[in-house]
Amino acid sequence: MDSALYVDGNPYEIWRAMREIGPVHHQVAATGSEFWAVVGHEASHRVLTEWKTFTSTRGTTLREDDNSAPYPGAGKMPVLADPPRHTELRRAVARLFTPRAVEKLAALAQQVAGSLLSDLRRRGGGDFVTDVAAKFPLAVQAELLGIPPEDIALISDATSRALDAAEDEAVGGHHDVMMYYLNALGTRRDGPGKDLLGALLSARAGGLPLTDEEIVLTCDNIVVAASQTARHSASGSLLALLERPAVWAALRNGQISIDSAIEELLRWTAPVTHVMRTAVTDTELAGTQIHAGDALAVWTASANRDRTVFKDPDDLVLDRHPNPHLTLGAGMHFCLGAALVRVMLRALLENLISADTSLALTNPAGWNSTWVVNGLNSLPVTVTPT
Ligand code: HEM
Repeated sequence: MDSALYVDGNPYEIWRAMREIGPVHHQVAATGSEFWAVVGHEASHRVLTEWKTFTSTRGTTLREDDNSAPYPGAGKMPVLADPPRHTELRRAVARLFTPRAVEKLAALAQQVAGSLLSDLRRRGGGDFVTDVAAKFPLAVQAELLGIPPEDIALISDATSRALDAAEDEAVGGHHDVMMYYLNALGTRRDGPGKDLLGALLSARAGGLPLTDEEIVLTCDNIVVAASQTARHSASGSLLALLERPAVWAALRNGQISIDSAIEELLRWTAPVTHVMRTAVTDTELAGTQIHAGDALAVWTASANRDRTVFKDPDDLVLDRHPNPHLTLGAGMHFCLGAALVRVMLRALLENLISADTSLALTNPAGWNSTWVVNGLNSLPVTVTPT
């Protein structure tokens, strides 16, 4: 939980050293936050999938002080709910995000990726993070999320603050996203429509509508996740490819399937650094005694480099198969946007591959240096015709 450890990206060397000692470690952060760091793949998978033992209702992000304090929003948005409410909340929106539903956004994703990259090319280059990766996810998903073009900048700013490591900043960001949807709710009750709010307004659970609080909190859950994660996988992927010209050339020459490349780039970038759970009963995890009430943080990026599961884990192997990475979680809370992330990354990669341009780094990439969602905040590139 020390942001300084993330200045050069995720702290893989520290996690490797920890994994060599064992998969589960007791930690007390400088701020007083106490938790078990789960760094091995098998133990991480168990924590993510055994929801009866490891609840999400005490929060899924570590807190600076007391991880066991009651969590606002618990049980009222998918990521913070256990069954049966989790099943009902997720069912209310799931049809918007099925592989078939998001395939309808593929053409838009291709068009947005093409247009952002042509702008970059026209200028001879720029910052891939601010000019492309940060704009791309919301430009593709805005209509689905019920955000008109003139509000995209406001939501982009609020969702970015919502994932700030400083709690005050994060609370302010979530507040602004929720107020936005609360206001929208007032104007939408009579004509629900086909977007996120429409799905939530027409949903029924046990014959009853969802409460306004659940609707607004679920919008917050989805909109923050939708806008602030894929950007890091997109820019982290480009950096990884530019740093490995032979791998990049093999992908551009069509020697590697885009689908397997996407999975490996997801394993590689892992922007959601950790996912927290709280034990509801005493249990043993990989030989370690865990007590009811203990917080556990699954470090997904560390699990993705576990050499007992991934051969040559520190190499980018675009045709890696199988690739059971935990970047998108596992079990019942498995990322709702998984199919959409793949559609977006495919559009971006295909456009990067087909463009008759050469991209090169002009300055070292800059990392956003946080332990909540880590990724690049700048990736200066030149773009020249080939
Ligand atoms: C590369 C991009 C993404 C990454 C790395 C990512 C990662 C994750 C992870 C690790 C989880 C599991 C959380 C947990 O178990 O507590 C999750 C859940 C979730 N993600 Fe994503 N996500 C991404 C993109 C998206 C997008 C584009 C959406 C938009 C719909 C989205 C919506 C959600 C939602 C709503 C959940 C909660 C699901 C539930 O609790 O049932 N994510 N994501």
